Amino acid sequence: MSDHESTYVPKTAIERWMDTRLPIIRFGADYMSLPTPKNLNYWYTFGAILALCLVVQIASGIFLAMHYVPNTEMAFASVERIMRDVNGGDLIRYTHANGASMFFIAVYIHMLRGLYYGSYKAPREMIWIMGCVIFFLMIA
Ligand code: HEM
Repeated sequence: MSDHESTYVPKTAIERWMDTRLPIIRFGADYMSLPTPKNLNYWYTFGAILALCLVVQIASGIFLAMHYVPNTEMAFASVERIMRDVNGGDLIRYTHANGASMFFIAVYIHMLRGLYYGSYKAPREMIWIMGCVIFFLMIA
């Protein structure tokens, strides 16, 4: 918000009272009206899709870990138990397994978008480099 003025004009008395004390409505209004490039298209939604994938994988992974037993004698039986006895266990397991594949499909689309539109060029080199670090962490 440093490069352009606030455009929010409080209308009601309550809004003016609030704005002089805790300008939280101004913050929201200015944030919602950030300048957006005209050339954005649906390929740019994949960053947010990836964030959603990460949340889904972590949530389903935590639920799987509640029932999985990482032991050579018990791992197979614990997975069978997840599939047969745990409430919604089959859904959680399939969500996690297929979610992992879709996560990678989404990250490849995200990276190809970056290559196609030159998102790796100045001034975004550090975003690209951090993306590469995230990518290798994902593979690991
Ligand atoms: C879990 C993985 C990732 C998440 C959650 C994520 C999230 C995001 C989000 C929300 C954006 C802004 C919206 C958009 O342009 O899509 C973005 C932009 C960007 N991402 Fe990612 N990203 C991830 C992985 C990567 C990877 C692997 C790379 C490249 C190696 C990368 C490179 C970039 C670049 C260069 C931009 C800026 C695009 C531009 O402004 O033109 N990201 N990312």
